[in-house]
Amino acid sequence: MKTIDRLDGKSPIVEAYRSIRTNIEYANLDKKLKVILVTSTQQNEGKSTITANLAISFSSLQDKKILLIDGDLRNPSLHRIFELSNSKGMMDVLKGDKTLDKVIYHLQKGKLDLLTTGIMPPNPGEVLVTDRMKSFIEQMREDYDYIFIDSPPVGIVSDASVLSQLSDGVVFVISSGEVEMDFAKLAKEKLMNVDAKILGAVLNKYESHNSDYGYYYGEYYGQKKKKKLSKKNIFKRKKRLKIKKA
Ligand SMILES: Nc1ncnc2c1ncn2[C@@H]1O[C@H](COP(=O)(O)OP(=O)(O)OP(=O)(O)O)[C@@H](O)[C@H]1O
Ligand SMILES: [Mg+2]
Repeated sequence: MKTIDRLDGKSPIVEAYRSIRTNIEYANLDKKLKVILVTSTQQNEGKSTITANLAISFSSLQDKKILLIDGDLRNPSLHRIFELSNSKGMMDVLKGDKTLDKVIYHLQKGKLDLLTTGIMPPNPGEVLVTDRMKSFIEQMREDYDYIFIDSPPVGIVSDASVLSQLSDGVVFVISSGEVEMDFAKLAKEKLMNVDAKILGAVLNKYESHNSDYGYYYGEYYGQKKKKKLSKKNIFKRKKRLKIKKA
């Protein structure tokens, strides 16, 4: 898969991520948002792709150090996106078998680090609720400006709800045309039941069929027609990626 760092800086997709980034930064004026969880209702909605690209987009901010964590202990995939091995990772650190510096990938030195899961545990749900996991994230808070955590779907297992407790905010991915809105609402409620702070929703895999609106801003107006997904737009974007306020 192509991550956005391989695309032209003016590409609409890079621009789309920049727009999400700006909105997260805007939501972070009081500097309380550091750990951001990305999740969705069901599988295959684009969580991992979006987590990876958001981390890349944030890494271009000056003087900001970003950590990308694969928190999907059931179906890890960030290592695949970056074409790296997952033979070691966060599980080794949590078990106390290895130190962080032995398992972390420096994707961009001093700017962007990646922590893959390592060998999957037999009991992913239990690992996430341990004090060890909690203190690990607390420790990471001291070393990074932003931490993005990928996770399994909310509608299927409770891992994302557990991870949301360790996070300051949640980006909720909705795959356009693939997820039933009722299920998405239930998933959102599940997160709200544990007091997760939902920052916004990213409407992914969206394709505008209305060419009359043109290319760039046109999609913004096109987006207004899809109001039933949510009340208010926060972000405007084109080509297969749209973001709306949850
Ligand atoms: N905007 C997009 N346009 C086209 N393809 C996309 C888009 N976003 C994601 N994909 C593709 O959809 C597939 C699923 O994406 P991804 O693995 O990021 O989803 P996921 O929600 O993390 O899945 P899982 O629940 O299995 O972890 C991948 O093949 C990815 O390349
Ligand atoms: Mg995934």
